[in-house]
Amino acid sequence: MDHFNYRDGELHCEDTPISEIVESVGTPAYIYSKQTFLDHFQAISQAFSELDPIVCYSIKSCGNLHIVKLLASQGSGMDVVSGGEVFRAQQSGVDMSKVVYAGVGKTDEEIEQAIRAEIGWFNIESEAEFENIAAIAARLGKEAHGALRINPDVADARTHAKTTTGSKETKFGVDIERAKRFFHTYGKNEHCRLDAIHLHIGSPIYSPEPYVKAITKTLEIIEELRADGFTINTIDIGGGYAADYETGASPSYKEYADAIVPLLKPFKDAGGTVILEPGRTIAANAGVLVTEVQYIKQGGAKKFVICDTGMHHLIRPTLYEAWQFIWPTKVAPEFVPDKRAKDLAIDGLEVSEIVGPICETGDYLAKDRPIPPVDRGDLLAVFSAGAYGMVMASHYNAMPNPPEVMVGGDAFLTIRRRETYEDLVAAERV
Ligand code: LLP
Repeated sequence: MDHFNYRDGELHCEDTPISEIVESVGTPAYIYSKQTFLDHFQAISQAFSELDPIVCYSIKSCGNLHIVKLLASQGSGMDVVSGGEVFRAQQSGVDMSKVVYAGVGKTDEEIEQAIRAEIGWFNIESEAEFENIAAIAARLGKEAHGALRINPDVADARTHAKTTTGSKETKFGVDIERAKRFFHTYGKNEHCRLDAIHLHIGSPIYSPEPYVKAITKTLEIIEELRADGFTINTIDIGGGYAADYETGASPSYKEYADAIVPLLKPFKDAGGTVILEPGRTIAANAGVLVTEVQYIKQGGAKKFVICDTGMHHLIRPTLYEAWQFIWPTKVAPEFVPDKRAKDLAIDGLEVSEIVGPICETGDYLAKDRPIPPVDRGDLLAVFSAGAYGMVMASHYNAMPNPPEVMVGGDAFLTIRRRETYEDLVAAERV
């Protein structure tokens, strides 16, 4: 469900040809579809509407101020993980009471900043962190508000080792046994009110079942805690819903909701609040990374397509062996793809190594990838690049970061300019 489509052999974002944007801003460039962001936000709100949830968009997935502002204008709260993301939320005019702040290493400065910003909840990851938040709140004469992040020891085997979080042995949250002790120690603290539970089991989670298991375990512990006299009025079930890197490969919001909503409906009906933290499903297919082919090179049996972007601007293929669909932005009619998939039944494709300019063998966007024949100067689009793309970009090899462009219908706006060499050294001019 997105607004990137081929029309007469040319990739368009909404009603704007990609080539028109590139003529104006050059390559590489991240290009986003405004309507896709809006559609995704609507779709998740709609699918879970029986729970009337607070949808807290995960800023870490794609945090440009214009995007945060756009979603905030639709009533979105925000999931943040650093002082920098608290700042982004503040700069975007987000209702700070709808901000949840997770992360295992919050510093004193970050905690103070968030308390002063009057965020909704700290998602608390350890006893030591709780004590620190309570102490800082006491010093400031304010009350902080906490959700204990529990670790339900549920994982999806298909989630990459680097992005699974719900099993017992990760740095995130506390296990279920410890959670009870946690409430007994801190559940009546006057400086940090603890009346909520948070979980986030990993990303991406390719089926509803791990959520069902994790939420069922969480509801059991909430029952026990209530029986012990504690108030738990909020449950934040995190994010992690899988996005369609391949057409139709992930469950829809509705499929997740059909499994999750009935579990949480009684909690909601009894006056409870439910929070969701989607990032990837909102942002991934709302963006592409467009690159220009610089050179074609044969290396032994392999054909290398060398591009002007790579792991420095999109690290997912290198870091997680992630597969993202890549296709030229202009193709002959026989090469117009009818879906984004690994197994396209199109004749005449050439198996290519699509690589970047960085001085590392690991710098690639795709390996052994069948694509239509391309030449120097052609444009390629890396699809599903909206989430964990630009936010994970680096300056490795002293490469400036690309611009970000937001398309709305037949118009577009640069929402982050291309960086310059001067930007690269600005903080070093001391
Ligand atoms: N909530 C918490 C506490 C999280 O840690 C995350 C993601 C989310 C929500 C949002 O998850 P989403 O709905 O976006 O799956 N860089 C990796 C993904 C890392 C996810 C980190 N946490 C990637 O590119 O696949």
